[in-house]
Amino acid sequence: MHIKNIGIVGAGQMGAGIAQVCAQNGFETILYDIQVELAEKGQSVIAKNLDRLVEKEKITIEQKKEAMARLKIATDLKTLVTTQLVIEAATENEKIKLDIFESLDQVCPKEAILASNTSSIPITKIASVTKRPQNVIGMHFMNPVPVMKLVEIIKGLLTSEETYTSIFDMTRALKKESVLVEDFPGFLVNRILCPMINEAVFALESGISTAEDIDKAMKLGTNQPMGPLELADFIGLDTCLAIMKVLHEGLGEDKFRPAPLLRKYVQAGLLGRKTGRGFYKY
Ligand code: CAA
Repeated sequence: MHIKNIGIVGAGQMGAGIAQVCAQNGFETILYDIQVELAEKGQSVIAKNLDRLVEKEKITIEQKKEAMARLKIATDLKTLVTTQLVIEAATENEKIKLDIFESLDQVCPKEAILASNTSSIPITKIASVTKRPQNVIGMHFMNPVPVMKLVEIIKGLLTSEETYTSIFDMTRALKKESVLVEDFPGFLVNRILCPMINEAVFALESGISTAEDIDKAMKLGTNQPMGPLELADFIGLDTCLAIMKVLHEGLGEDKFRPAPLLRKYVQAGLLGRKTGRGFYKY
């Protein structure tokens, strides 16, 4: 299927980032959120990001205007009836996501592809609440979406080859690279990244070094743009913990047990950048 019309469900950081990249690359894009304030906030974040790109002369003012003209916001899910692909980027909560997919299955044309940006919920499970599991797939974008080059494409057990090909082509049209991943807990990036972050928290907990030096070691010693603790704050400590729990439960191995200090930070509500404090203060 040659995709031209896209709906994005959820206008948070990830949803808005995905909508920006879609609108910038020529797709008619509808950014849906249940709350009008959130949809409008997403739209204004996109406008500001595009303004910055104009200032840096990465895009022209016309390109910004064209992208904004391709972007609509909506608070009624039925608006997505015109779309060929919906990418769900709602809160990482299983019940919420399953409810959304059940509704999307009723609202969207039967040939439409339903994709999820989930970082941890099995695609096969999400597909099972729809009557079109062959058209359900994972599109896992990385944060910040406009900057990061990768999309993990995850095939559920019943995802068709046709659906995969459409999403592979569409990802290229977004000027992103993709990797094909089977539906296993944590998929690929988080399976490797989150245990590294978790190990950095264990190192901090054991007093091996300070947060600053753990990050400095990994930045200067392994050329990572952010140290693992800084990155954990950037991702959100609650998200890191949730992913570690999925890996631990799903794969049943001790090596994936969440660091007690990570649990403690989450219990204290110190979730990283979004709450103003995690391993660092912002
Ligand atoms: N939106 C749009 N653009 C952004 C941005 C944002 N939120 N944040 C930074 N940028 C842009 C800047 O405008 C800048 O653009 P130019 O080069 O055109 O000037 C560029 O990115 C670099 O930014 P900065 O110079 O401000 O800062 P930096 O060089 O430190 O880069 C970073 C910032 C890109 C975030 C970099 O630190 C980085 O790559 N960090 C690692 C990010 C990462 O690993 N993400 C994956 C997390 S895992 C995940 O997302 C999956 C999951 O399920 C948890």
